[in-house]
Amino acid sequence: MDTKDRLLTALKERKGHWVSGEVLSQHLAVSRSAVWKNIGKLRKAGYVIRAARKKGYCLLRIPDLLLPAEIRDGLKTRCFGQGEIAHFMEIGSTNTTAKQMAVQGATEGTVVVAEHQTHGRGRKHRGWFSPASGGIYCSLILRPRISPADSPRITFLSAVSAAEALCRVTPLHPTIKWPNDILIRGKKVAGILTEMASDMDSVSYGVVGIGINVNTSDFPDIIADTATSVFRETQQPLSRTALVQAYLEEQEKWYGVLKRQGFEPVLERWRTMANIIGKPIRVEMIDKRIEGRVQMIDADGVLILGDKRGQTHRILSGDVFFL
Ligand code: BTN
Repeated sequence: MDTKDRLLTALKERKGHWVSGEVLSQHLAVSRSAVWKNIGKLRKAGYVIRAARKKGYCLLRIPDLLLPAEIRDGLKTRCFGQGEIAHFMEIGSTNTTAKQMAVQGATEGTVVVAEHQTHGRGRKHRGWFSPASGGIYCSLILRPRISPADSPRITFLSAVSAAEALCRVTPLHPTIKWPNDILIRGKKVAGILTEMASDMDSVSYGVVGIGINVNTSDFPDIIADTATSVFRETQQPLSRTALVQAYLEEQEKWYGVLKRQGFEPVLERWRTMANIIGKPIRVEMIDKRIEGRVQMIDADGVLILGDKRGQTHRILSGDVFFL
């Protein structure tokens, strides 16, 4: 931890109370001018800190931002989010930046978060509604030792992790729509965009980007009927930091399960949360649409659909609509 983070920890322990500059400088083993300089840095990041002669400093308010120090505070992971967390007030797309960082050698567990995306990207070259404040726009860099053919596994485990995280920090019961949309009462609350870079036989890096509608209250007309947010469902604002922490913890947990026990337990959990087997659906693909009943999600995560004529279809990617 650098001086700024240690100073923040000390101020947080006495939030709402005065702590003298002398005590802080002794506690951190730095000069009083270093304390003052770092108070300036914290204020610049959005922390509201009062300063008064003879009294010292008093932390009044922690900003409602996805700040690295706040995400790390109490984060129970070994790797994910423990190294670099790059935070942006505005960015094109956290996935695009994370991919650039991965190419430059960023390690597994590196996180990119933003308060607002100007070019948020969704699956199939769609956009992702990313207004300032209210949402989580987060990308995680992975370096999985898997073959490119197995890379959809990362998408499945990310959907499970996101749904588990929502279960942990909200009273809601999210479901997963194949392959990786997170729904609440049939409306989309979160989406995942997994992007992999690989050579012939191994994946060099993966970026898992997640967008969650947390405290968003209004959506553009085009998605108003199909999207929802945690706030809309609960009428309560939720700490986005707590949700990011839960997500990183779940993601690390399920990534570990995949490494140690293989894909089956991940898929099993996915199947429970998706509740799709036996349901009549329509799948829309780039060039066609098929209606039928879901027979199963096979061991590779492929959707197996039986149509009215008794034909079986193996579907690798598409948009699912429940009938
Ligand atoms: C989808 O459902 O189509 C996937 C949406 C993924 C959106 C997230 S927001 C953070 C990350 N950065 C992006 O540009 N996209 C993903």
